[in-house]
Amino acid sequence: MSQPPLFRPFTLRGITAKNRILISPMCQYSAVDGIASDWHLVHLGKFAQGGAGIVMVEATAVTANGRITHGDLGLWHDGQIKPLERIAAFLRDNGAVPAIQLAHAGRKASMQRPWYGNAALTAEDRARGDQPWPIVAPSPIPMEEGWLTPQELSEDELERLLDAWRAATLRAVEAGFEMLEVHCAHGYLLHSFLSPLSNMRTDQYGGDRAGRMRFPLQVIETVRAAWPDTLPLSVRVSSVDGVEGGIELADSVAFAREAKARGADIIDCSSGGLLGSATAARIPRGYGFQVPFAESIRREADVPTIAVGLILHPDQAEKVVEQGQADLVGIGREALFDPNWPLHAQLELTEADDQLFADWPKQYGWWLERREPGLRKLDGWKLPYRRG
Ligand SMILES: Cc1cc2nc3c(=O)[nH]c(=O)nc-3n(C[C@H](O)[C@H](O)[C@H](O)COP(=O)(O)O)c2cc1C
Repeated sequence: MSQPPLFRPFTLRGITAKNRILISPMCQYSAVDGIASDWHLVHLGKFAQGGAGIVMVEATAVTANGRITHGDLGLWHDGQIKPLERIAAFLRDNGAVPAIQLAHAGRKASMQRPWYGNAALTAEDRARGDQPWPIVAPSPIPMEEGWLTPQELSEDELERLLDAWRAATLRAVEAGFEMLEVHCAHGYLLHSFLSPLSNMRTDQYGGDRAGRMRFPLQVIETVRAAWPDTLPLSVRVSSVDGVEGGIELADSVAFAREAKARGADIIDCSSGGLLGSATAARIPRGYGFQVPFAESIRREADVPTIAVGLILHPDQAEKVVEQGQADLVGIGREALFDPNWPLHAQLELTEADDQLFADWPKQYGWWLERREPGLRKLDGWKLPYRRG
């Protein structure tokens, strides 16, 4: 029986994911001092038990002031390694490639946690204990009126930031991660260098496209040099800003080519987020609305891609891989709804009539396999997860 394309293994460098499903990084805003807790272990662990090929840890800050909120994870000091090491080991032991996204929030740092408003910190947040901190960016332009004004980064400070990316990468290696993603999307620091709307610099880090790409590409080079050759490196981009005068797809194709030349193995194709707090609010949304970006970047930059964004249904994901629009499919909120999404998708896409639960954790699959024949005899019972 042929395997559905979504469930064919995928190899990048020395790492093979058992299928094409990547659980997209999702901040939990629940860390204290950047340190992962049991919440993070259970949150991420569920997705490994649920059959994902790759599970990516949320945006993890390379410096303390590069956090989006007080609740972000970090890898800016050695004390943050151990709890992440436990998570990476759990993911690996349960069949998923442990991945982590490294990030710096730039001018979107020092924000409210989403459920307190998802905007600049208020007096109410300060009373709760969340004090604002000074933020940095390519240019001193606040996100929106009422937000903190960032301090423009000097060239010396950019050098020091490269050191922070290098050190965080080495900590991710020590924690046992097998895939790393550099966050160049959603209006955070590296995206704000790339976009002409947030980068007004007149030095070598601004101006034309080559200048605006310079610092993000230096970060990619720095991370690649510290990250083992055998392990894959992903770069997340906002494929388009969706705002007049902002990044367009041709810019992202050019960036993807340069990232690939510096050792990036795959491009994770998101969009938006430069203005406003939501990640992609400026882009019209429909099922799989970012898939065409992943398809174009894959074709035009000749690099593997990840498609993400409102991919909810197994046959939708299957088509993306089958038609060669992307190599991996990122599942975000639908995995919050159903952490077993990959296992459920497999049941839906596979024609088999027995051994339905062979790929489930044995602690669950053994029971479910034996429940099945009895279920089929029940009056009015219909398989909830099979086509037809
Ligand atoms: C709770 C939450 C947290 C998120 N945190 C991150 C993050 O840490 N890094 C990132 O690049 N994207 C983040 N995103 C965006 C997701 O990775 C994903 O690209 C987006 O939700 C679209 O996919 P979906 O429609 O499957 O949810 C987050 C999204 C959600 C819902």
